[in-house]
Amino acid sequence: MARLRIEAVSKRFGRTEAVRGVSLDIADGEFMVLLGPSGCGKSTLLRMVAGLEEPSEGRIALDDTDITHTGPQQRNLAMVFQSYALYPHLTVSRNIGFPLRARRSPRERTAARVAEVAAILGLTELLDRKPAALSGGQRQRVALARAMVRDPGAFLMDEPLSNLDAKLRSTTRAELVALHQRLGATFLYVTHDQVEAMTMADRIALLDRGRVEQVGTPAELYDRPRSTFVAGFLGSPPMNLIPATVIARDGGLRAVAAGIDVELPFPVSEFDQDVQIVAGMRPERLRPEPDAPDIRGRVTRVENLGGDELIHFTAGAHTLCARIRRPAGVAAGDHIGLRIAPADIHLFHPDSGLRLAWRSTRPDGAAAAVVAGSGTTR
Ligand SMILES: Nc1ncnc2c1ncn2[C@@H]1O[C@H](COP(=O)(O)OP(=O)(O)O)[C@@H](O)[C@H]1O
Ligand SMILES: [Mg+2]
Repeated sequence: MARLRIEAVSKRFGRTEAVRGVSLDIADGEFMVLLGPSGCGKSTLLRMVAGLEEPSEGRIALDDTDITHTGPQQRNLAMVFQSYALYPHLTVSRNIGFPLRARRSPRERTAARVAEVAAILGLTELLDRKPAALSGGQRQRVALARAMVRDPGAFLMDEPLSNLDAKLRSTTRAELVALHQRLGATFLYVTHDQVEAMTMADRIALLDRGRVEQVGTPAELYDRPRSTFVAGFLGSPPMNLIPATVIARDGGLRAVAAGIDVELPFPVSEFDQDVQIVAGMRPERLRPEPDAPDIRGRVTRVENLGGDELIHFTAGAHTLCARIRRPAGVAAGDHIGLRIAPADIHLFHPDSGLRLAWRSTRPDGAAAAVVAGSGTTR
């Protein structure tokens, strides 16, 4: 069992607030990914869970034990670093067995456990080699094996795939997911790579400047981003975010900006009209519509991705991107017409950046646009 609870944890380095009041409850057996841009505090948070940094404030618990001030060796957690940190002069076998020898585990028990873990990770044939004679992917597996050998309650990983080339990264991603399923252990995994987060996580905690911006399943963050920060971080290319005005026309609500006049999925009643919002539209949700387009623009650049094309175009002063099956049949300089389904439009507050959701739960039955999760601020 290893449920990890991080409660209102902050970390300051001098004047730098690396982590600011982060709370996360990670279930036993969960694969939780800490995602965010470089410098947002992911490593610092992970290192506090590992016991390598002491929180300035807050508390960390493993199951029912407060481990905030427990030494790293006493935490029953295993950390895998980006650099692997293998001992170059030791064989794979001795690298893997190192944590057990350090604890003076009996020799036969160490050998049996090393063999067991090596078999799980496909390292049996490599046990007598030195790290220098291994590929990047193999070294990464040795580092994992060394972390597994003590049978820790939870695995902490800091960008473990970032030294691998693209192809190996994708196979190792799949291996890690399979390993997580087989071990049933808790994983806390740091990355700045949204693809890793989307493909591996049970839940993602997206961090921005030391704070948790949103926690949820990959689908929740992608489909209902709680702010423009989340909307812009997940998705490649990122969501188009266009300042627009809400107006009522023909019995419906529309978001309007230069070149853009799209229907919104909200009833007209009681929505403040002429309010400024930010309309979010994912590139892959824009569809060609030559006859009656909601969005009109001028193509500036077409990128061929093989299966799809990225059509970059300007509408008014804004540059947008549409991802369309190849061949879209347009070139730079062409006029383009597009549409988007109302349900695919996200609305955000222009100042706070927070998602606007529709809620028709007022006692009088009237609807009102509200800030999702109101009461919380960025
Ligand atoms: N030991 C340290 N001393 C001073 N500042 C640090 C230290 N470690 C991290 N920081 C700062 O804390 C912030 C968060 O860093 P880090 O946790 O490494 O971010 P990430 O892993 O998300 O890239 C950064 O501004 C970084 O410069
Ligand atoms: Mg880091």
